[in-house]
Amino acid sequence: MIEMVDVKKTYPNGVIALNGVSIKIEPGEFVYLVGQSGAGKSTFIKLIFREEVATSGEIRVNGKDLVKMKWREVPMLRREIGVVYQDFKLLPKLTVYENVAFALEVVEESPRQIRSRVMDVLEQVGLKNKARFIPDELSGGEQQRVAIARAIANYPKLLIADEPTGNLDPETSWEIMRILEEINASGTTIIMATHSKEIVNTIRRRVIAVEDGLIVRDQYRGDYGYEA
Ligand SMILES: Nc1ncnc2c1ncn2[C@@H]1O[C@H](COP(=O)(O)OP(=O)(O)OP(=O)(O)O)[C@@H](O)[C@H]1O
Ligand SMILES: [Mg+2]
Repeated sequence: MIEMVDVKKTYPNGVIALNGVSIKIEPGEFVYLVGQSGAGKSTFIKLIFREEVATSGEIRVNGKDLVKMKWREVPMLRREIGVVYQDFKLLPKLTVYENVAFALEVVEESPRQIRSRVMDVLEQVGLKNKARFIPDELSGGEQQRVAIARAIANYPKLLIADEPTGNLDPETSWEIMRILEEINASGTTIIMATHSKEIVNTIRRRVIAVEDGLIVRDQYRGDYGYEA
């Protein structure tokens, strides 16, 4: 599903964010990315959906070679990947329904398919009753659930979450984790960057630890391994 071979990423200002990363992630896995601030977690994530391009090395995602990929092929890659951010990134003037529908309209579904799929994913995240609300009228946890609904609307094989609980209180974070676990149980691969020692040590999954642009640990059912 994801394979990286000796991947390096140097930003234009000269910062080496990844310094030779090799990893394989299989379909259906749930992977935590942990490590200190600045370690390279977000960079790793951005390379997977080609928000950033590797400086050297090989990256394959869903059978596609991201090094050889042309810019016009990038939208096809991104259709197969859902992305969730710490700060939700919802469109503030659109309703919950419209925020999710937007993700489907860009892939040219029929209006009827869109309506039924939007209501299905909103039900999955427990927000069917708030379809007409706008993001400002929702709690942080609810906004993140909308972002997750949007991310999964197009049946992605892979869901990437960069600190999805970073702005949420502990109780709300557990709700988000329960939803992510359900999505993973239905077969979607999940990669989640996190600073939450509690979550990583409670819901035991594969842990990939990054330090100074290198993978320093890769452990099934691993623990957080840092002092929070
Ligand atoms: N667009 C950019 N231009 C230049 N340097 C960058 C850019 N994005 C990240 N960096 C640098 O690359 C390194 C890795 O950053 P990255 O965002 O991947 O870390 P991170 O592990 O996600 O950190 P955090 O836990 O704080 O989110 C850092 O030194 C950072 O300053
Ligand atoms: Mg980051």
